[in-house]
Amino acid sequence: MSYNLDTLYRQVIMDHYKNPRNKGVLDGEVLTVDMNNPTCGDRIQLQLQVEDDIVKDVKFDGEGCSISMSSASMMTQAIKGKKLKEALKMSDTFSHMMMGEDIDMEELDLEDLGALQGVAKFPARIKCATLAWKAMEKGFHEE
Ligand code: FES
Repeated sequence: MSYNLDTLYRQVIMDHYKNPRNKGVLDGEVLTVDMNNPTCGDRIQLQLQVEDDIVKDVKFDGEGCSISMSSASMMTQAIKGKKLKEALKMSDTFSHMMMGEDIDMEELDLEDLGALQGVAKFPARIKCATLAWKAMEKGFHEE
């Protein structure tokens, strides 16, 4: 299969970039994580509201390329309502996908995230796609 920019910027990626889900700030007692991509300086702020080991709510803010922002949007959608353990498993699966490995997306409920599979062919963009996930992992490990 040949990958090109058209493949990379699939419609679903652009949809999440232009209409990000869960973008903004949360009120109340939340866990806030700031992280940047050292290769470009783009940054993300992730806010997590965790109760009883479940991600009750999550929002993100920041600036970055379409890959990083759409991945953040998809990630927040995927982990909302999930147990921390499930969210971390998704993150692990997503990393494997970014390494170009075959994964079972349906079983892991990764929803739109499959659209980012093509990023694995562009090593320079992998850090863009994993930025929000690394922020989430950092937040959970600080919990
Ligand atoms: Fe900066 Fe993608 S180019 S996060």
